[in-house]
Amino acid sequence: MNKNKLRVALILIVGLGVSALIAFAQIRGIERQATASTVVADNFGGPFELTDHTGRAVTEKDFSGQWRLMYFGFTFCPAICPTELAKMTEVLNALGEKGEQITPIFITIDPERDTQKIMADYVSLFHPRLIGLTGTPDQIAEIAKAYKVYYAKVDDPTLSEYTMDHSSYIYLIDPQDNLHALYKIDQTADEVIADISARL
Ligand code: NI
Repeated sequence: MNKNKLRVALILIVGLGVSALIAFAQIRGIERQATASTVVADNFGGPFELTDHTGRAVTEKDFSGQWRLMYFGFTFCPAICPTELAKMTEVLNALGEKGEQITPIFITIDPERDTQKIMADYVSLFHPRLIGLTGTPDQIAEIAKAYKVYYAKVDDPTLSEYTMDHSSYIYLIDPQDNLHALYKIDQTADEVIADISARL
C-alpha cells in the first residue's frame, strides 16, 4: 500500500469510527431520556415518506394518533431481527385488547435487498398486522436519522453477500408521536408486556 492509499484508508477508518460513535452517543442519549421519564426524547421522529409491504405510499401522518411498536432491521438478518420481531408478536398477542390498539411496524435499513415483495413475504411470518416499510436508500437514511438508528453495510469475506450492522431497539411510540419507551435485546417478552401494560 503506498502512502496516499494508506492515508485514504486511515481517513476512512477514522471517519467510520467517528460516525459510529456519534450514532452510539445519540442512542445512549435517547435511552437515558426514555428510561428517565415516561415520555419524550427531544428531536425524535419526524416526517417520512416510505412504501409499505402492499405497495402503498405512506407518511408519518398515516400512523399519527396510534400507539406504535417500531423496529428497524433487515430481512436477511440471521438472528437478532427475527428474534425481536417474534418478541414483538408475542407481546402484542399477550396484551390482548391493549395489543389491538398498537400498530406494529418493521422498517428495513437494507432497502437495496428488501424490496416491497420481500418485505411482504417477511412480515407475513410474524404478526398478521405487522406493517413492513421500505423505500429508496435516501428515504431510509432520512427515517433512520430521525429515529436515531445506526446502521452500516458490512462486507464479510466469508459470506457471499454483505450483511448489515445496526442498532436494535423496539420503540414504543405514543399517539402524539413521542417516544414512550424503548426495549433492548436483553429485555424479555414478559418484561415488555408488563411495561406496556402499565403505560397503556
Ligand atoms: Ni438484525
